[in-house]
Amino acid sequence: MQYNSVKSVLEDLDPGSEIEIRGWVRTRRDSKQFSFLEVNDGSCLASLQIIADQGIDGYQEHVCEANTGAAVIVRGELVESPGKGQRVELHAKEFELVGPCSASDYPLQKKRHSNEFLRTIAHLRPRTNTFGAVFRLRSAMSFAIHSFFNQRSFVHLHSPIITTSDCEGAGEMFRVTTLDMDKPERDEKGAVDYSKDFFGAEASLTVSGQLEAELFASALSKVYTFGPTFRAENSNTARHLSEFWMVEPEVAFCDLAGDMELAEDFLKYVITYVMDNCPQDMEFFDRWIEKGILSSLQSVVDADFERMTYTDAIAALEKSGKEFEFPVSWGMDIQTEHERFLTEEYVKRPVFVTNYPKDIKAFYMRVDEGEKTVSAMDLLVPRLGEIIGGSQREEREDVLRRRIKECDLEEETYWWYLDLRRFGSVPHAGFGLGFERLLMYVSGISNIRDIIPFPRTPGSADF
Ligand code: 4AD
Ligand code: MG
Repeated sequence: MQYNSVKSVLEDLDPGSEIEIRGWVRTRRDSKQFSFLEVNDGSCLASLQIIADQGIDGYQEHVCEANTGAAVIVRGELVESPGKGQRVELHAKEFELVGPCSASDYPLQKKRHSNEFLRTIAHLRPRTNTFGAVFRLRSAMSFAIHSFFNQRSFVHLHSPIITTSDCEGAGEMFRVTTLDMDKPERDEKGAVDYSKDFFGAEASLTVSGQLEAELFASALSKVYTFGPTFRAENSNTARHLSEFWMVEPEVAFCDLAGDMELAEDFLKYVITYVMDNCPQDMEFFDRWIEKGILSSLQSVVDADFERMTYTDAIAALEKSGKEFEFPVSWGMDIQTEHERFLTEEYVKRPVFVTNYPKDIKAFYMRVDEGEKTVSAMDLLVPRLGEIIGGSQREEREDVLRRRIKECDLEEETYWWYLDLRRFGSVPHAGFGLGFERLLMYVSGISNIRDIIPFPRTPGSADF
């Protein structure tokens, strides 16, 4: 017999159907004549109610041993449910205990646990309502992203994970080496000799797929990457991970205005997609995680995102009369507290801040007229701050060479990137969206560690 997912049973099947379900027991309650069980298989938020009569075969060994957490297979007839909140329930005819679960040891006994506690049992937390919803959302969102770009004829590019160039030029990379850490090969000057290393050069995990995406956009016109990226920055905050996933579109013949238009359409599309396709999980977030999130997301979808230059943003912060922890002046990096003021209090909707001072941005961003700023944009959203960072890229060879020098980077490492500016160079632009930041924004989950299956943060790479 084919088995049914709980989702298909609850949504599609009528009373009278003979079915088989497979899942894990959430609760069991025994009365004189019957046992009542809730079985969940992760296909949806809801569990299926099972009624098992004492008279069925193996009642003592199977049903009475089916503790919270146990794996079971149940066959029987679907009947109309007299109970509130569910349309149907399953009257068991056969009940098989597949994997018992120790009632004294299993840590998920209570109805609600703190997210901090659940982080210590990341191997079991997908079995809770919250994390089931989070990881179904993550999967649906990933599909929405591919669907958006596919509809617009973007080519999906698998950019490399191991690289010898630092895209952001910030030196926050994890080294990849097979050299003996105790006695690495050394050159005449005593420095570690990476020419003897596995790749014959100093290699690292990538911080971004952008540089490779630029190469491919210069041939295939519209591309995007969606993969893991790694940052060895010591930021122990609720919105930083050492390993996170980034979505990076890159478009040839595109300027900063076109880039922002793409980012706005993209964000509205993926938010609408999950509201339409994950209604139960989204209602769960609205009810238990962040009250009112559905209406706030709807207002984001309906809003025109604001656009404002960095210079105007600084002026607004200076005029705000607020005491910020980091004092405001032109040339400084905009901190989370400033981002939140701008988006939550000043414009009260998502805002693109553009044309940042060149000294606080990466080498590849296009230098504006006047030479003080670059054609960068950050998209700031309420509750979170920066969710997207992007720019128009420097397509002029001479300016790019100068910027590489100014940023203390080595020209030789970027010879291929510079080649692009010699062979059919075009204005082009792109952006990077932090996938986990997007999921935090859409679910209301406030710590980024709770949105990725196994978080990697400074001091922690358990499981
Ligand atoms: O602003 P970032 O550093 O931009 C880039 O990496 C560009 N190469 C992107 C591009 O233009 N193709 O990172 C982009 C986004 C941020 O806006 C943020 O959402 C997310 O990636 N992000 C992080 N998310 C989690 N943990 C971290 N440590 C993150 N660092 C950046
Ligand atoms: Mg950024």
